[in-house]
Amino acid sequence: MFHKIRRHTVACLCLITILLLLVGCQATEEVQTEPALLLGFSQVGSESAWRMGNTRDIEKKAEECGISLMLENANQKQENQIDAIRRFIAYQVDVIAFSPIVEEGWDNVLSEAKEAGIPVILVDRDISTEKEGLTACLIGADFYNEGVMAAEYLIRKADSLGLDKVNIVEITGTEDSTPMRQRQAGFMDTIKDDERMVVLESINGDFLISRGRECMKYLIETYGDEIDVVYSHNDEMTLGALPEIEKAGFSPGQDMIIISIDGGQDAIDVLKEGKINCVVECTPMLGDKLMETAIKLKAGEEVEKVIHPEEQYFSDEMDLSGLAPRGY
Ligand code: AHR
Repeated sequence: MFHKIRRHTVACLCLITILLLLVGCQATEEVQTEPALLLGFSQVGSESAWRMGNTRDIEKKAEECGISLMLENANQKQENQIDAIRRFIAYQVDVIAFSPIVEEGWDNVLSEAKEAGIPVILVDRDISTEKEGLTACLIGADFYNEGVMAAEYLIRKADSLGLDKVNIVEITGTEDSTPMRQRQAGFMDTIKDDERMVVLESINGDFLISRGRECMKYLIETYGDEIDVVYSHNDEMTLGALPEIEKAGFSPGQDMIIISIDGGQDAIDVLKEGKINCVVECTPMLGDKLMETAIKLKAGEEVEKVIHPEEQYFSDEMDLSGLAPRGY
C-alpha cells in the first residue's frame, strides 16, 4: 500500500515537473521572442477626431499584425517630430513612419534615417524636398481631389438655388501642411472659371475647433450677411464655426452653405440635422496599408510609391439614413 502511494506520488511529481518545465519553456520563449517588426511612428498630435481615429486605427492594426509599435505624439510641433525620428534611428527600429505636420524642413533628419538604412513611410501628409529617395512611399488621402469634390458640390448647389453671385470664406488647415495646400488648390482650380464664385477671404484655422470659432467670429464681424458659403478644411473648425454663425442670427445650412472635410460622426450628425450641407470624406483608416507596407519594406520588397484610399462625399442631396457609424 505504502509502495503504491509512493509510486503514485513520484509519478505525479514527475508529471508536475514536466508540465512546469513546459510552461517555463513557453514563458521563456515568449520573453525571448522578437517582434516580427519594430515600427516607430510619429503622430502629429490629437487636434481632431480624425487624428485620434487615425492613432487608434494604427495601434489596433499594429497589434493585430504582431508589430511592435513605438508611438510618439508630437503635440503639433515639428521639432518634436524631428526628435522622435532621431530616437527611432538611435533605437534602430526596422521602419519609421510619420505624418509630417508641415511639408518643408525634413531633409536633414531623413538623410540621417537613410544613412542608417531605415526606410521611411509618410503617413497622411507629404513632404516637399529636392533630395531623391528620402522616403519609400506615401500612404494618405488625395487632398486635391477632396478640394475638387467640395467645389463640385458648391457649383451644383449654386445651380440648384439659381445663385448668380456666391461669396465664399475659406477656413484653412495648418499653414504649409499638405491638406491645407491641396484642399485649397483643388477647390480654387475647380471654381476659377465660374464667374459667380468670389473668395472674400481665406483664413488659417489650424484644424482646431477653438480657431474655427475665432475665425468665424472675425469673418462675421468683417463680412456679415455678405457671406454665402463657408468652406472649412476640417470638421473641428466647422463645428467651432457653427455656433458663431447662429449667435450672429444666421441659420447655417440655410442662410449660409456650409462645406466641411473629414466626415467624422459628429459632422455627419450635424449634416443630417441640416446645419452642414456637404462633408467630403477623408478617411483616417490607414493602419492596414501602413502595416502591410512596413512588412514589405522590412522584407526588402518593392512598394507602391503613392497609396490613396478611396473617398466619397456626403451631402444634403443624399438620403443618409442608412449610413453606417463612421468610427471616428
Ligand atoms: O491631415 C489630415 C487632417 O489633419 C484632417 O483633415 C484633420 O482633421 C487633421 O487634423
